[in-house]
Amino acid sequence: MANRILVTGASGLLGANFVLAALQRGKEVAAVCHVHPLFFPGAETIVADLTDANSTKMIIRAWRPDWIVHCAALTDVDWCETHPEETWAVNVGVTRNLAAVSRAHGSGLVYISTDSVFDGTRGHYAETDTVGPLNVYARSKQAGEEAVQAAGGRYLIVRTNIYGWNAVDKMNLAEWVLSRLEQGQVVPGFTDVTFSPILVNDLSDLILDMLERRLTGLYHVAGAESCSKYEFACQLAAIFGLDQGRVHPASEMDAGLLAPRPKNTSLQTGKVSKALEQPMPDVASGLRRFKALRDSGFAGQLKRMKGV
Ligand SMILES: NC(=O)c1ccc[n+]([C@@H]2O[C@H](COP(=O)([O-])OP(=O)(O)OC[C@H]3O[C@@H](n4cnc5c(N)ncnc54)[C@H](OP(=O)(O)O)[C@@H]3O)[C@@H](O)[C@H]2O)c1
Repeated sequence: MANRILVTGASGLLGANFVLAALQRGKEVAAVCHVHPLFFPGAETIVADLTDANSTKMIIRAWRPDWIVHCAALTDVDWCETHPEETWAVNVGVTRNLAAVSRAHGSGLVYISTDSVFDGTRGHYAETDTVGPLNVYARSKQAGEEAVQAAGGRYLIVRTNIYGWNAVDKMNLAEWVLSRLEQGQVVPGFTDVTFSPILVNDLSDLILDMLERRLTGLYHVAGAESCSKYEFACQLAAIFGLDQGRVHPASEMDAGLLAPRPKNTSLQTGKVSKALEQPMPDVASGLRRFKALRDSGFAGQLKRMKGV
């Protein structure tokens, strides 16, 4: 059963969109935020620093979720590279504690992991392929996976790569590309980075489907297609009716990024498609929904959930 769901990282890109998707399905939801509290009509907002293991324990004990959907993490890859201890405390320490507490209370734990656990030399990775993280962030996410698996409780690990509308003032790739194109600016699109992006709203719906089907274990839940970041930006421009000519081919090598990054983290999604008896969304359908969410006012609604 997944009627009571506690979402960590509820102010983040995935967390905020997941809270809304879970509410829409009639779930009871607790939304745990840290420094950016969001207020979702119909959910209980809990403000907590999850690195405080005791208060985390008390929150879980008091709220008794059927499932914890753990989206909280430090996700700025270059910041993580220069702050390994802080990164480890959140991405591994918090995860390890949540895994132990969820096991003790009989809650299941959904751990959101990343395609970056792979070294990116080959691409098209299956769940059975060997991981090889290249940077501090990716190593911490892999260690988080191991902590969840070692705890011995009920878990679902979801490796992914996401985009969508943020509630807080922070941009992901799709929002950044869109805002630059709408301002008539040029977008450097990396031709040498390949991924399988999925819209957070599609991912949220799929995770809820997985919980309803009582799936457990490790799954790649990502877009059905892979593309370069350049191709992604071009498709976004086309779908929003913007000038694709402003997306200029570029190399990640020239971007001056600090942390080493994998080149091709495309994921095979056959396992989840088979289990859910549905194909994963392709790039165009995700981007069309991304646009529809703005046209319908959903993106604006999300941004109005910031502290009152
Ligand atoms: N973004 C991507 O492209 C991507 C790709 C693959 C996998 N992932 C994974 O997907 C998950 C969600 O990513 P996202 O992009 O949605 O993250 P995000 O937007 O960066 O949000 C991170 C969340 O973590 C919370 N958080 C950080 N430190 C915390 C602490 N000490 N105590 C409590 N909460 C804390 C933040 O809360 P406050 O803002 O309130 O401080 C925020 O809600 C992460 O596990 C990430 O590793 C992301």
